[in-house]
Amino acid sequence: MKLSDIKRVLILGAGTMGQQIGLQCAMHGYEVVYYDVSREVLDKAMKSVTKLASWYASTGRLTEEQLRQTLARISMTPDAAEAARGVDLINESVPEDPDLKGKIFARFNKLCPERTIFTTNTSLLLPSMFAQACGRPEKLCALHFHDLRSNNVVDVMPHPGTAPEVAQLVHDFAGSIGQIVITLQKENSGYVFNTMLSSLFLSALTLASRNVTSVEDIDRAWMGVTRMPIGPFGIMDQVGLSTVWDITDYWAKKKGDRQAQANADFLKQYVDKGKLGYKTKQGFYTYPNPAYLEKDFLTASKEE
Ligand SMILES: NC(=O)c1ccc[n+]([C@@H]2O[C@H](COP(=O)([O-])OP(=O)(O)OC[C@H]3O[C@@H](n4cnc5c(N)ncnc54)[C@H](O)[C@@H]3O)[C@@H](O)[C@H]2O)c1
Repeated sequence: MKLSDIKRVLILGAGTMGQQIGLQCAMHGYEVVYYDVSREVLDKAMKSVTKLASWYASTGRLTEEQLRQTLARISMTPDAAEAARGVDLINESVPEDPDLKGKIFARFNKLCPERTIFTTNTSLLLPSMFAQACGRPEKLCALHFHDLRSNNVVDVMPHPGTAPEVAQLVHDFAGSIGQIVITLQKENSGYVFNTMLSSLFLSALTLASRNVTSVEDIDRAWMGVTRMPIGPFGIMDQVGLSTVWDITDYWAKKKGDRQAQANADFLKQYVDKGKLGYKTKQGFYTYPNPAYLEKDFLTASKEE
């Protein structure tokens, strides 16, 4: 199979990431079908995808004609057999659970043509955790996206059983949808950027949970030195504090790490109050005008 043979893409899971990924494929000329648990979920997803596409048009990323053509390439169905028909490549974005991912791939293994490539957008799991369960391990590869609204970096990560030509094809496919491709030679939980980001989160949370300094000063230190427009706590608000807590708590318990658990408990105070970050308008900062975007956030102290 070569890149030009890929025409139809199936997105498993029409949530936050699936919506963005499917739209990105449709914007680049692929026919896209979404599959999710119910018609109701898919109707909501179609509204969100249309809204996102219209926003892209309003910012000049799509012309009005491209917007119309892109949306015409998208369909959605809760019928698995219909979703699987004629599909060349799957990208899976169902919740982060290896059993669920293995089961849904196994189901689609029975329904999809033999040629179909299976890719997963898992954040921290390794494809080898569900490669055997999926039924076609040699055709399984991770294709992991970051937030497509603001960047275009993807990780392509084969597991030891992925056929080299499949990894190459997934790499080429990612390039064809306008992505900067980061190629991993071996499995690594968290890929490349997220591995670095989790170290930053760990350090920032450790400083805050030990009361070394304030959340604002931690971000101020990062932003002031790197000249980045956002610091680690601002980024956590963007990711969503329940997601950051979920991951921190999971690994703290798995490794029995007391400091990581203290970090998770620090995050949990916000999660319990419904302060989940940008999406609830309140997290470490208040939105839409967080303090770190204010003009004087990085102003030199008056005493100096
Ligand atoms: N949110 C992020 O920033 C981000 C970034 C990169 C990767 N990821 C990964 O992408 C995956 C999805 O994350 P998300 O944030 O889009 O989650 P989400 O909860 O927004 O969406 C998951 C979707 O999967 C659907 N679903 C659940 N069970 C299903 C099933 N059996 N069959 C079909 N659909 C099913 C849900 O109805 C929902 O629409 C996870 O593995 C996550 O780790 C997330």
